[in-house]
Amino acid sequence: RQGIIQSSKMFLVANRLEGKKVESSIRYLSDMEAVFMDKVAFSALDPQQPVYEVDCYFPVADNKSGGLFFGLTRIFPGKVGGEFFMTKGHFHSNNDTAEFYWGIKGKGLLLFMDKTRKVWAEEMTEGSVHYIPGNTAHRVINTGVEMLSFGACWPSDAGHDYGSIEKEGFSARVVEKDGKLIIIEE
Ligand code: PA5
Ligand code: NI
Repeated sequence: RQGIIQSSKMFLVANRLEGKKVESSIRYLSDMEAVFMDKVAFSALDPQQPVYEVDCYFPVADNKSGGLFFGLTRIFPGKVGGEFFMTKGHFHSNNDTAEFYWGIKGKGLLLFMDKTRKVWAEEMTEGSVHYIPGNTAHRVINTGVEMLSFGACWPSDAGHDYGSIEKEGFSARVVEKDGKLIIIEE
């Protein structure tokens, strides 16, 4: 039972997905031009730089009610100007569906934003558990110097709605300035 002896949680999660049909995707800097604030710093970076990768396990058909989906996201360490690498962030298409995120490795911030654009954050660390209520956009920011890995579980009929975040963004940004982490609110 070698898999059990391995102490890395990362390994355990990966192991449980073995033999399952996993769909993997990678988001590169070129996919995220609108996301980052500093356009000059952005244009100096390699557009082929990966920002995060996601492995998803969909045990039932998309949009079917009653099932659950599972995702494992890894955000690379990095910054554009002072702004940390992060996920695009989204609301759920089926607005009032919730989700769990949990930290596996590395450190970061989970940013929430409700429909009135009120934002708040929770610290993501190894073993942290986060409940994302319905009607709440969610984005994860890697504030550390190593890869940030986290798990996600959401209803199979939730759907991802990127539209409003792509257009209007979150009302807060997380940047590093003079070695300090600061949150810039809109
Ligand atoms: O379903 C989720 O919320 C996650 O699995 C995310 O899709 C994943 O972390 C990638 O983020 P985003 O979908 O915002 O690009
Ligand atoms: Ni989600």
